[in-house]
Formats: sequence, C-alpha cells, structure tokens
Amino acid sequence: MRHLIDPLDFTKEETQKLLDLADRIHDDPEAYQDVADHKRLATLFYEPSTRTRLSFESAMLRLGGKVLGFPDAGVSSASKGETVADTIRIISCYADIAAMRHPKEGAPLRASLYSKIPVINAGDGGHSHPTQTLLDMMTIRRRKGRLDNLTIGFCGDLKFGRTVHSLIDAMSRYLGVKFVLISPDELKVPSYVKQKMRDQGIPYIQTTDLEAVMPELDILYMTRVQRERSFNEEDYLRLKDSYILTPEKLAGAKQDLAILHPLPRVNEITLDVDDDPRAAYFDQVQNGVYMRMALIMTLLGLKDPKTGEVAFNVEG
Ligand code: NCD
Repeated sequence: MRHLIDPLDFTKEETQKLLDLADRIHDDPEAYQDVADHKRLATLFYEPSTRTRLSFESAMLRLGGKVLGFPDAGVSSASKGETVADTIRIISCYADIAAMRHPKEGAPLRASLYSKIPVINAGDGGHSHPTQTLLDMMTIRRRKGRLDNLTIGFCGDLKFGRTVHSLIDAMSRYLGVKFVLISPDELKVPSYVKQKMRDQGIPYIQTTDLEAVMPELDILYMTRVQRERSFNEEDYLRLKDSYILTPEKLAGAKQDLAILHPLPRVNEITLDVDDDPRAAYFDQVQNGVYMRMALIMTLLGLKDPKTGEVAFNVEG
C-alpha cells in the first residue's frame, strides 16, 4: 500500500505516469465513470477548505465511487480530544481511501502510520500540499509541453505558502529549472527550502520587484498572504496587498507566460487579468479534478479502462 504525504513520495517516473493518466482522463472523462464503483473515499478536513475538499469529492463521484467525511474539526471527534491515530484507525473500517487536511504539520504522515487504507495529504499546516503540486504540474505541462527548462517565478507569501514549498520540491527534479522568488522581506521562503535548493545546485534569485523580473518568467505563480498562519493582524494588513497583478504589470511578460494561482484569490490578481489567455488558474481547478481521479485510481490499484493497466503498481 502507498500513501501520498510528501510531493517527493512518487518517483519522477511514477509522477509522469500519473500525469499521463490525468491527461487521458481530461480527454475523455466519461470513460472513467464506473472505475471506482463500490469504493468509498473519506474526506477528513480539520481546516477550512471548500475547493480542495469538493475537488476530491467530485473526483470520487466522477469515478462512480462514494464519499463520506466531515468538513471541519468542529464537527469531528477531534473536538472531543480524539487523536489522529485513533481517527484513522476508525476511518480505515469505513472507507477504502482517505484525504486529510490538517493545520498541524505532519498530521497526515502520523495518520498514515496507523492506517489500513491509503492516506492522501490534502495540505498540512505551512508544510506541504502534494495534490496541489500534481495539478500545478499537470497545468504547467499542458500549457508549456514540458517540465524542464523553465524559469518559474513565485510571488507573494513564500514563507507560509505550502503550495510554494511543495512545487519547489517537485520541480527541483527537472533539468534546467530556475526559481525567481518574489516576496516582501518578511515573507521570504524559509531557510530549509533555500538550503534544499542550494544542496541540489538549483539556481534561484530572491527579489522584491515583480516587474523587473517579469520578462524572464515562463511561469508566474501568484499566492495570497496566508492570514491564518501569519504572525499578527497588523503585519497581515500591511503585507496583504504587496503584489497585485494587473494587465499593466504584464506588459513586459512573455507571450507564452502561464499565470498560476492555487486559489482562493483575495486581491493578488485583478479581475481584468482573467480574460488574458495567459491566465491558467481556472484550468488548474479543472485539472485538479482529473489529477485527483488519477491519484485515487492509482492508490486503489484500479486499472485504466483505456490501457487495461494501472498507472503504476502500488503493491509490495
Ligand atoms: C491553497 C492551500 O490550501 O494551501 N489552496 C488550495 O488548496 N486550494 C492555497 C491557499 O489557501 O492560499
């Protein structure tokens, strides 16, 4: 049995097979509508989320499976003091696979150690968000036709943004990738993330000036300031509008730039950017459903009806 806790849990080759499966689903979703018949997904969300939880639920329903779960910690037994270890032991008796979001870093990993069913990390604190990473990679690959030789700009809250940390980890495995890290000084990427880039010899620069670096970028990954993880309200109010992407700021950008955002958007991208063909953030949402379908199928060992095979083997 395999889990997905960290963006590097799957090898590069496995990741590619998963992306290929997600692309096949994208091109013909109806062909997959009965693949997970009689299977159950539990969504255990200890932190507010609409998008990610509904994306998992939609993915399972589109595979013909069923879903059960709770949308926030207040309505779960966690409010009575139950541990994550106990919860997952119970859920293992109710469902075939579980997706867990938790405000504490490492909670999904801990759950996986006690689980009899595959556990998917749907975001743990400021740490990582591997399914967002997979759908980001799917979107990048569909837009650019490749994952190597890309200059990727991350802009906004690079300190607390878990989607940023996970995508840096995952993209670091591809040749010719460079990172441009654009943030206020207070919201720079944590030193452990920088250390990992240095250890692997990955080129990166840090800057506060989005427009100055815009012409170099192949990908621009905008993020919101993570109010719930920030130090205090005063700093949040001061920093929240540090970067607002507008059509004017895109003037120097490449014609084939792809603009990504994990959403929810607060104020980081003005609405008039949405009509720009370079805006890829709503594609990400759609791709997320197909990517999660591919992931659920693979972790459950379900065959792709198109190829008659699993994307990769999760047993033994
Ligand atoms: C992201 C998250 O939860 O980390 N959102 C998401 O998964 N759709 C980004 C965010 O909340 O800013």
